[in-house]
Amino acid sequence: MSIVAGCDVGSLATKAVVMERRRVLAAVVVRSGPKPGASARDALDQALAQCGRSAGDVSYCVGTGYGREKIAFVNETLSEISCHAKGARFLVPSARSVIDIGGQDCKVIKLDANGGLVKFVTNDKCASGTGRFLEVMAKVMHLPVDRLGELSLQARDPVTLASMCTVWAQADIIKHINARRPAEEICAGINTAMANRVAMLANALRLENDICMTGGVAKNKGVVHALARILGQRIKEVKTLDPQLVGALGAALLAAEQAGKVNRKELPP
Ligand SMILES: Nc1ncnc2c1ncn2[C@@H]1O[C@H](COP(=O)(O)OP(=O)(O)OP(=O)(O)O)[C@@H](O)[C@H]1O
Ligand SMILES: [Mg+2]
Repeated sequence: MSIVAGCDVGSLATKAVVMERRRVLAAVVVRSGPKPGASARDALDQALAQCGRSAGDVSYCVGTGYGREKIAFVNETLSEISCHAKGARFLVPSARSVIDIGGQDCKVIKLDANGGLVKFVTNDKCASGTGRFLEVMAKVMHLPVDRLGELSLQARDPVTLASMCTVWAQADIIKHINARRPAEEICAGINTAMANRVAMLANALRLENDICMTGGVAKNKGVVHALARILGQRIKEVKTLDPQLVGALGAALLAAEQAGKVNRKELPP
């Protein structure tokens, strides 16, 4: 039975999703290495091994993400906007807005009732408002990045960071550590600074409900809650799949659509 695949080569993580008839068979996240093509191969090979398939079984593969042009084995490359929108609507059919926060940029996407693209905005000029900001701050706190979210939820009196700038915020955090503020209160300040930056971008589009968050930062519940509070809107969490995989899922879904077209063309008249 033929299968399809989507591969999202991001700046920090490479994701692969393998699907059969709109059902996810396997999904893998690996750290992006210096060669995007090799990271993509690694992620797809691991996903294929997970479901006991081989590269020859893949009838169509779509590549996306900043490193997509370097993937040798894809049939087609598509924008991250199309792939995140497609994946988000599959998991949350009511989504009219998608906020993808990855390692080096943040994209806010507005969709119409049918899932068609209305408009999008991106921040790719500054580390604040991206996963990189959280990675840098986690290092200053001597914490793994995946602890920032849950810790921050325990804060009773969050600190306010004086600056959203990654460089100035580091100095501010060191000041709070030296003042012996509890780690959870500093983490809450970090997540709120991050959410404030993303909200500035989101407010430029006047987002409609439902809002869905994708990308690795969607796993940080502190950022999700802070963003919902600042926007004054509820954020529908992706529950059935790791949100970091949504771009690769969208790529696999678009691959399935393309594979369907190719197969139909091959049918005898
Ligand atoms: N378990 C986790 N908890 C919280 N945050 C996480 C977790 N895992 C990853 N992240 C965050 O996700 C970010 C990476 O997300 P993602 O894989 O979507 O980025 P990317 O696609 O490589 O980047 P880009 O789209 O900007 O090129 C990391 O910077 C980190 O902040
Ligand atoms: Mg990404």
